[in-house]
Order: sequence, then structure tokens, then C-alpha cells
Amino acid sequence: MQCYILFRYTQKHICNATYFLDIPKNIYAMLHIPHCGIMAVAKLPFKVGIPVEDEYFIDRESELKELEQHISSHSNVCLLGLRRVGKTSLLRRAIRDMQDVVMVYVDCHGVTDKRTLAGKIANEIKDAYIERTGDGKFRDAIAKHLKAGWDKIAFRLVEMELEIGGYFRVRMGIGKKEVDAEELFESALGYADILGKTKEKRFVIIFDEFQDIGTSWKDDDIKRLRAIVQRQKHVGYIFCGSSPTFMSSLVDNRDAPFYRQLEKIRVGPLPEEAARTFIESRFHVCGYDISNEALETMLALTRCIPDYVQRLGAAAANMTKKIDNTVVSKAYEQVLLKMDSEFRNLLSSLGQRSPTYTPILIGFSRHNTIAEASRAVGYDLKKSTRQLAYLQNIGLLEKAGRGDYEITDPVFKDWLQRNFS
Ligand SMILES: Nc1ncnc2c1ncn2[C@@H]1O[C@H](COP(=O)(O)OP(=O)(O)OP(=O)(O)O)[C@@H](O)[C@H]1O
Ligand SMILES: [Mg+2]
Repeated sequence: MQCYILFRYTQKHICNATYFLDIPKNIYAMLHIPHCGIMAVAKLPFKVGIPVEDEYFIDRESELKELEQHISSHSNVCLLGLRRVGKTSLLRRAIRDMQDVVMVYVDCHGVTDKRTLAGKIANEIKDAYIERTGDGKFRDAIAKHLKAGWDKIAFRLVEMELEIGGYFRVRMGIGKKEVDAEELFESALGYADILGKTKEKRFVIIFDEFQDIGTSWKDDDIKRLRAIVQRQKHVGYIFCGSSPTFMSSLVDNRDAPFYRQLEKIRVGPLPEEAARTFIESRFHVCGYDISNEALETMLALTRCIPDYVQRLGAAAANMTKKIDNTVVSKAYEQVLLKMDSEFRNLLSSLGQRSPTYTPILIGFSRHNTIAEASRAVGYDLKKSTRQLAYLQNIGLLEKAGRGDYEITDPVFKDWLQRNFS
């Protein structure tokens, strides 16, 4: 069993220690060792709810290799994958592995406008550059100007070196209504190009959850972005998202703005063998036993979707050290229970858009063909072409053939079957 020994044992010290060791608290079980005056913190086998790294991250070798090849050959990339499949974890691993480029990670989730996005991009560029290069002179210059205050910065902006001034120009523009948001966004991206040129570094900007901003953009916005991407010589781009139709609308047909300009990488469930080895070894190194039968049940229930593999593993580990089929079944019930509010929220937000989403999903949780699904819910689902398209767009449904649809998330499908029988 892997342990960290801590020399004090109040809750506060545990929190501090987990913070300093950069260990999320939820992945540790704490054991009090009597008479020793020490606290041992044992690592748990699985990790839930946040992107994973190190021993919690498995496989993805071919995706990482592909990504690395595209970046080395200065190609831009579109990374596609359904929700919870492990896109962000993969990107984080790539950021860690690819030390010769400055990888700038921009999370677009919840970013509503280009002004905010511009500020976020400029900050991420600055931070990633300092982190990757350790350029103390640059870091100190930024800190010195920030200390001097915004009034002085405004006064000195023209005198500043390009690679410092570029950053402050974007930051100052955010609060100024007269500076157009589009211009600000372009300056923010341009800043990476300037820094790349002056410092002779290659940058890669990653837009994660790109659909969160991209779906609200007009065609012209995407075209303007394409022009920037094409123009910049020192910056590569990775667009990552979980909405299959939106992401594919960027690249897949002749009219798409990035047609033939982005290399597509698909992230899917884990290969079964890799998932099997992962589950077995995580239980094993943490002192658990799992039967073969239970292992196979875990693979079948999760369909090797990494998030569910980790959730089910964590729930089973919470119950006992000997994992058999009964334990896995009980753990699966807990996973369903934990997912319940998320699934309910999803149904209710879809219901606000149109009342037809619920019957569509219930129908396809029971049958794959449109005719049978319609019969099951007493509603002709053929009429709902727009809703069917939207459900594919957000990745909840997948076309499995002519008139056949499948719910992509096996746990959501099961939840629908159980709750709406
Ligand atoms: N390579 C991996 N090995 C093991 N577990 C993984 C891996 N990738 C992801 N996971 C598990 O799946 C969960 C979801 O991963 P991640 O957040 O990277 O997915 P995502 O595709 O970015 O999800 P979302 O669409 O919600 O942004 C993680 O919390 C982790 O438990
Ligand atoms: Mg993600």
C-alpha cells in the first residue's frame, strides 16, 4: 500500500499536507495509527470527478503520439470525444509531455463573451510561457509593472517592449468599452505570435470545451478565427469539444470553415485490455482483491468509459477489500444514485427546450429502431427530426444505422430504463 506519513494529525494539518503535496483530499483514506502520533494517508485506487494524471491515467498512447506528430509538423488539430471520455486528461498529459513547445490551455467552459475570453487567453499565454521557460526577466518585468499600478502602465505602454506591452494592451482593453471585443480577441491571440517570434518559441493554444463559445458564434466569427490561425507563424491550435455535430461542422464538409485544415483525433472509450489491466492493477497496488467475474462485470457496465471505470472502481473500493460480483452490483447502484441528479437536470434542461426530448430518450433507451422506439412511447418520433439532430449534436444520441439510434452513455441509458419503465 502506498502511504504518506504526516507528522501531525489534526484535520487542518492533513488539509495542509494534501495541499502541499498537491494531492486532492478525496483520493486519500486517512488512517490513525495508535501510539505512533502519526497519521498515515493511504492512496485510494481510483479518482473521480477531475481530470487525471500519473498513475490514475492510462493508455491513450496512440492518441498522444498522433497529437505529438501533428504538433511537430505544425498542423492544427481538432480533438473530438463524447462527454467524460477523457479529453481534458489527455490534453493535460500532452501539456506535461511536450516540453519543447509552450502549451497554453484555455478552458472555454462558462466563458460567455469574447472580451472575457481575450483576458483569459492573455493570462494563460503569460503564465504558460513563464512556467515552460522559467524566463525570470519576463516574469519580473510583468510583476514590476503590475506593482506600479494601472495608471502608470497606461502612461508607459508605448515605451514597453512588445512582449510585455502586448500583454498589458489586452488586459487594459478589457475594461474599455471603446475597444471592440473582436479586436481584443485578435490582440490576445496575436500576443502569442508576438511572444513566439521575439522569444523564438513555438506556442500551441488549446481551446478546451470549444463548443461552449463556438456554438454561439456566427459564421463570420469562425472565419475570422480561421484567418488568424492561417496567418500566425509561431502558434498552433487544438480545438477540443464534446459536441460531435458542432465539432464536425468545423471540419467535415466542403463548406466547413476549417475543411481540410485541422487534423482530427477522436477520443473514445479505453481499449478493453487496457481498462482490464488498469482496474486490476489499481486494486492490486492498493491492497484490494478483485475476482475475474467482478472485473468482467465492471468492464461490461462501464463499457470502458474512463469516467465510469473510475467511479465504479471507487464505489466498490469504498465497500470492502474483496471485490466480487455482488460488491460491483451494489457499487453500480451507488454510481446510478450519484448520477441521478445530473441525469435529472439534463432531462429537465432538455425539457425546457422541447417536451419531445424525454419521449425520444425513453424510446431509444428501450429500442434502437425509430419504429419500435415510437411504439414504446406512443409518439411518432419520426416527426422530431430537429430534436433528433440536436441530441446527436450534443452527443447524447448516435446514429447506428438508417432509422436506428443509440444512446451513447450506457449508464444514462440504464438510468432511463429504470426510471421510466
Ligand atoms: N486516460 C485515463 N485513464 C484513466 N481514467 C481516465 C482517463 N481519462 C479520463 N479518466 C477518468 O474520466 C474522468 C473524466 O475525464 P476528463 O475530465 O478528462 O474527460 P472529458 O472528456 O474532458 O470530460 P468532459 O466532456 O466532461 O469535459 C476523469 O475524472 C477520470 O476519472
Ligand atoms: Mg473536459
